[in-house]
Amino acid sequence: MAAIENVTGTAFVVAEFRAEEAAEAKPLYEDKIVPVFLNEDTKRAAARIAETIPAVKKMVRIRTRYLDDRLDAQLRDGCKQVVILGAGLDTRAIRKQAPDVVYFEIDDETTLSFKKATLAENRLTADVSFIYGNYVTDDFIRLLISNGFDGSRPAHFIWEGNTMYLTADSIRQVMADIVRHVPQFTLSFDYFKEDVINEATGDAAATLITERFAAMGAPWRTGIGDIQRLADEAAMRLVDNVATAELHRAYWPGKALETAIFDYYFLCTLQSPAR
Ligand SMILES: C[S@@+](CC[C@H](N)C(=O)[O-])C[C@H]1O[C@@H](n2cnc3c(N)ncnc32)[C@H](O)[C@@H]1O
Repeated sequence: MAAIENVTGTAFVVAEFRAEEAAEAKPLYEDKIVPVFLNEDTKRAAARIAETIPAVKKMVRIRTRYLDDRLDAQLRDGCKQVVILGAGLDTRAIRKQAPDVVYFEIDDETTLSFKKATLAENRLTADVSFIYGNYVTDDFIRLLISNGFDGSRPAHFIWEGNTMYLTADSIRQVMADIVRHVPQFTLSFDYFKEDVINEATGDAAATLITERFAAMGAPWRTGIGDIQRLADEAAMRLVDNVATAELHRAYWPGKALETAIFDYYFLCTLQSPAR
């Protein structure tokens, strides 16, 4: 298993938080698969992150539900190809199987070979290609195509828990690659406003979360100030952009928001002009 530190290790922490919601009596989403990846080490790593800032768990729960909903909508619409960039321990390829739907997951070899072996040990199968690589430096479109992806057919891209770790140029490059090679796509991802990265929210808990991830060797590097501008520059259409604060109120009516970070943490969906 990968060390539970740095960006790769964060996948295990995220998986712990995701599993906790799934174990609730009335969870926001179902995920019976994710526990297969977890153990005492992952539990301890997640507890270390959550002890100072419990709100970090809710950020993962909220984004999982939002991204599940967006995926469900695309599958209902007939989309047959789902690409998960920086997939980590995402279980959607198993949880959201549908006839003729193919999943493509890209992440580093350590993470995906562990995932593949663990799923096999647990006899969990799906129509999924595990693609070992770095989607910033390895020409991920070429990797996708060599693994059976068809750029001429519609595709849904999920880019969860990733943009904050990249440079602004890499974010733009990934978007440009999608636009250039896939005429019909939707793309859903989460992002922070720049104030979170710059520790300028004025909210002590938000600043602590940023510092905790940096201390874990996974510093957040890039926030997005103006998503509409980024979409325009990439020649994408922004179809949805929502603060997690709003989703928090919708998913848990009446529950207090413990930190202002939910006002700075967003989920969005963009699409090709042709869709
Ligand atoms: C915070 S985890 C999120 C995992 C998963 N998307 C989720 O939300 O459960 C970030 C993951 O993205 C992967 N990742 C980050 N940058 C990447 C890149 N350039 N190429 C491939 N994988 C990347 C890391 O290895 C890690 O597994």
